Amino acid sequence: MNKKTKAKRKVKDFRNYSLTQHNTFGISAGCSRFIEFSTVAEAKETVKNLKQTDMPLLIIGGGSNLLLTKDFQGTVLHSAIKGISTTFIDGGVLVRVASGEVWDDTVAYCVQNGWYGMENLSHIPGEVGATAVQNIGAYGTEVKDIIYKVEAIEIATGKSCFFTNEECEYSYRQSRFKKDWKDKYIITHVTYRLSTIFNSHLEYGNIRKELDKEGIEHPTAMQLRNAIIKIREDKLPDPKIEGNAGSFFMNPVVSMEKFNELLAEYPEMPHYEVDEDHEKIPAGWMIDQCGWKGKSLGRAGVHSKQALVLVNKGGATGNDIVCLCDHIRKDVQDKFGIDIHPEVNII
Ligand code: EPU
Repeated sequence: MNKKTKAKRKVKDFRNYSLTQHNTFGISAGCSRFIEFSTVAEAKETVKNLKQTDMPLLIIGGGSNLLLTKDFQGTVLHSAIKGISTTFIDGGVLVRVASGEVWDDTVAYCVQNGWYGMENLSHIPGEVGATAVQNIGAYGTEVKDIIYKVEAIEIATGKSCFFTNEECEYSYRQSRFKKDWKDKYIITHVTYRLSTIFNSHLEYGNIRKELDKEGIEHPTAMQLRNAIIKIREDKLPDPKIEGNAGSFFMNPVVSMEKFNELLAEYPEMPHYEVDEDHEKIPAGWMIDQCGWKGKSLGRAGVHSKQALVLVNKGGATGNDIVCLCDHIRKDVQDKFGIDIHPEVNII
């Protein structure tokens, strides 16, 4: 390698690296190798140089959906690719964002510029690449509603490729990146299709109530964003203070038959329609009904304001959290006859 290339090289490549700063649960765990790249070219070079001894791979974003139960005996890849560019189209704008950008900075930037569609997804931790894997969702919006295109590098070949929204087969907290494409691609950019006309969605949860408190009837996108930030700050623990990964479980989708059976027993049960044959029941409500809200099992706890969130009370191991998770799952199964599944990626 000549001097010039060496000076330009920015790939971070560490052996026996600590992941404590890379998981919002704040679990102490490490990995055999950690590689972080800042450009598409570096990402390509990285995958081309991977050896069999570097396997398995774990691709991480901001680590806000990750629970480490032991040291990862393999290579962790992280994209630090930055940059945002835009193309104006009829009635809207295509915003192409690099995978290493912080998601909420992207939302703030788009709202400030008058590009709408992301505002209900304000204040969700994590990075842009992960939004396309996880299909993040909140307050009546899912990111699949605005994803236009996902650009990636195929790990096996180092070749660039892209996927349309349809090809990613998005559904509630699901995508092909979590199924048959798992660990096969490194996402480098996500393009979102936003509107230059603001069309507010205020129906979900406490949004209206929060706006009413401020005396706002017709919010601007920035006011809506601020209301959502306020709601999330009130209800969800700050990972910098108490380690957590947001919702620990997915909300189960049940058949109409099961739903009607439960509704007869719990007429006050909150629920959301999925389609004419299915309803979604908030796992947080069920965990709360089981009496877990605010309770702890050793160093792992259930958040006192939102039972869907498990927290590291200080010094918890990944297995402490898994143990609490198992107790909760059993109680929900016994009381409601529903198996709830972690949303968090348990390694
Ligand atoms: N509920 C309780 N007790 C609780 C928690 C919730 O009774 O401890 C009830 C609430 O009163 C409400 C219902 O359950 O009637 C739903 O609660 P909430 O609106 O807080 O939403 P959620 O279904 O628990 C989902 C997402 C959140 C997202 C919110 C708001 C999932 C897995 N979680 O939670 O996403 O912020 O809706 O849209 O779908 C995340 O993914 O990390 C996350 C926080």
